[in-house]
Amino acid sequence: MGNNRNIVILTGAGVSAESGIDTFRDGGGLWEQHRVEDVATPEAFQRDPDLVLRFYDMRREAVQTKEPNAAHHALARLEREPDGDVLIVTQNVDDLHERAGAKNVLYMHGELLNAWCTACDARSRWTGTLIDRPTCPACGAPALRPDIVWFGEMPYRMEEIYGALRRADLFVSIGTSGAVYPAAGFVRDAREMGVETLELNLERSEGSSWFHETRLGPATEIVPAWVDELVDAG
Ligand code: APR
Repeated sequence: MGNNRNIVILTGAGVSAESGIDTFRDGGGLWEQHRVEDVATPEAFQRDPDLVLRFYDMRREAVQTKEPNAAHHALARLEREPDGDVLIVTQNVDDLHERAGAKNVLYMHGELLNAWCTACDARSRWTGTLIDRPTCPACGAPALRPDIVWFGEMPYRMEEIYGALRRADLFVSIGTSGAVYPAAGFVRDAREMGVETLELNLERSEGSSWFHETRLGPATEIVPAWVDELVDAG
């Protein structure tokens, strides 16, 4: 792969699986336990806000009991390398990349530890629950919802992501099934922009054929090994 300067890393639920956070589509995953249309759409929130708020309250509480794993730490280490830019674009809503020390993390699907006020549009750091309809710290309105991009809603900061892809030398996808767009389309777009592409995953994703190279295995093994290789090649 050689020494690439600008790297865009897309991560998915698989990078946090070994920290004890359920993925979505693997056996026993979140979407086996809950119907997407009951907990992860704006319509669901209209129809049964308690069910939706309880679902995210449960996940918000759980994520605060988890720790970053070797994959998160390896990516933070890569980011600290002197030369080159590393941007982590995560589909995950946990804060484990940042807790591992990564600074350049873009949350395209939102953050569990934020509450979003639908009255004044403010986002507030939130570690507690929303089920009791607490008021917005900024405007006082009882109009808070989870700061999560639900199905049918537009992911965040897409222009920034494509700007980084245009400048990238290498696009790496870690721990994602490639089942959800627009993230699943990044590899094809990167490739068409002449960017080198690498997949690190437990199993081949739906977009595997678009990658120049695929390495299979648990993230806590293959991510540190890849970072060591890149840093040593440095
Ligand atoms: N190491 C590496 N990869 C893993 C591991 C592991 N320990 N465990 C699971 N994986 C891989 C699986 O093989 C699968 O390809 O991680 C992927 C998880 O896929 P999904 O559960 O579909 O999660 P993700 O791709 O992040 O979902 C995308 O869908 O539900 C929405 O908004 C939600 O951000 C999410 C998006």
